[in-house]
Amino acid sequence: MAEALKAGRDLALRPLKLRDARALFALVESNRERLRTWLPWPDANRSVQDSRAYILRMRALAKAGRGLSFGLWWKEELVGVAGFVWLDALNASAGIGYWLAQEAEGHGLMTRAVEALLRHGFRSLGLNRIEIRAGVRNHRSRAIPKRLGFRHEGTLRQAERLAGRTVDHAVYGLLAVEWRRR
Ligand SMILES: CC(C)(COP(=O)(O)OP(=O)(O)OC[C@H]1O[C@@H](n2cnc3c(N)ncnc32)[C@H](O)[C@@H]1OP(=O)(O)O)[C@@H](O)C(=O)NCCC(=O)NCCS
Repeated sequence: MAEALKAGRDLALRPLKLRDARALFALVESNRERLRTWLPWPDANRSVQDSRAYILRMRALAKAGRGLSFGLWWKEELVGVAGFVWLDALNASAGIGYWLAQEAEGHGLMTRAVEALLRHGFRSLGLNRIEIRAGVRNHRSRAIPKRLGFRHEGTLRQAERLAGRTVDHAVYGLLAVEWRRR
């Protein structure tokens, strides 16, 4: 089981456990419409059972060293998910993904969570490159890598199918050497 990461006094990143499935599903359910605007999976997550299956998939990915996802607990309440949605050990690269419940937006929580992921990725996992992709019009998401000193590397055209439309992705990258210089 992966370790938990601290992101300040009131925010912790902990690997999701099966006992979190009910709370996770409740969060998806109450944020479904805004999540499906920018994420491809909410339509396939329709029950606590689906959330259990998701947690098991994340656990298997972590065991295989191919991903590392965490629940975000703010003041001990589950408010979202963030993590390395893919990890490529051969190339020492990873991609970060995230989402927050609406009531947790606007407090800088995800920026802090991503900072904790960067520390873990560059220091403990020995990564050389960390990437974040966001829909070009997903301004709240794009603000996070911008705030954290990522470089905007370009646009992937028609990269994702979302709720009946196809969106371009803005790609942001941060290298270990750049992170250490900040
Ligand atoms: C993307 C998402 C996680 C961003 O959430 P967020 O709350 O805007 O991001 P942060 O937690 O970093 O908070 C930044 C906000 O907190 C404010 N803030 C307060 N204290 C802050 C601090 N100490 N540091 C940074 N920001 C702070 C910022 O001003 C900003 O608010 P503003 O945009 O109203 O100015 C959220 O909008 C979301 O889950 N969206 C739906 C799913 C999604 O799009 N996922 C990403 C797919 S690529």
